[in-house]
Amino acid sequence: MSEKKFSILPAHVGVIMDGNGRWAKNRGLPRQMGHIEGAKTFRRIGEYAGNLGVKHISFYAFSTENWARPEEEVNAIMKLFGDYLQEAEERLQENLEKGIRLRFLGDRSRLTPELAAAMDYLENSTKDMTKVNLNLAVNYGGQQEILHSVKNIAEDVLSGKIKPDEITLETIGNGLYTEEQPPVDLVIRPSGEQRLSNFLLWQSAYAEFWYSDVLWPDFSEEDFDEALRAYEKRNRRFGGV
Ligand code: IPE
Ligand code: IPE
Ligand code: MG
Repeated sequence: MSEKKFSILPAHVGVIMDGNGRWAKNRGLPRQMGHIEGAKTFRRIGEYAGNLGVKHISFYAFSTENWARPEEEVNAIMKLFGDYLQEAEERLQENLEKGIRLRFLGDRSRLTPELAAAMDYLENSTKDMTKVNLNLAVNYGGQQEILHSVKNIAEDVLSGKIKPDEITLETIGNGLYTEEQPPVDLVIRPSGEQRLSNFLLWQSAYAEFWYSDVLWPDFSEEDFDEALRAYEKRNRRFGGV
């Protein structure tokens, strides 16, 4: 696939995978079926973005607020996440050949030890890859992420490692789950909602937003192209003129 399909690509794309439940409801199916289809879309679009040459892409799979859903639904989502981790382990060699680095954004302490161990393993095994950086946000909240970074900095101040005056934007940014990854240039949200829902708050400070009514399980490569084409035309000023 040609990388010249677009004159300019966002360095980092954030995708809020929303609309699985409504997709299922529209078909008279249980919500879980929407998540199963949504997980397929995630694999498809992740691969497509990598082929296009997008270097960093973050998918929002499960928020810190999503625990409020019925236990059955939460369990179904965690099961799908476990399936994905298992598949990624089975295909590790293939992913390494493609240069894919996997990262998981979010608080692992509330996930099962099995999931957390698989996440650590995959992150470690792919940490030297540089071609495509694929992040999956699970039990992720943007405010909680900033709080987590700030608490670590407070510890460093207490132990005398740094002085309050030495705290910079980079100090906070580097303490986030995305560490040294570039800021988000483009946030894509399907399903008709126009909000961030606690996704990558710090990283999206200057992101462009692209919304669509399409429900995530129906989200296609053409929809992704359309978002990138809209991004190409945006005039980003970063506060300048
Ligand atoms: C997104 O789809 C998946 C998660 C938030 C886990 P939803 O399940 O939120 O789908 P809708 O918004 O109810 O349609
Ligand atoms: C955002 O979707 C979280 C994910 C896609 C994982 P939600 O469906 O949870 O967001 P709200 O509740 O509509 O804001
Ligand atoms: Mg939703």
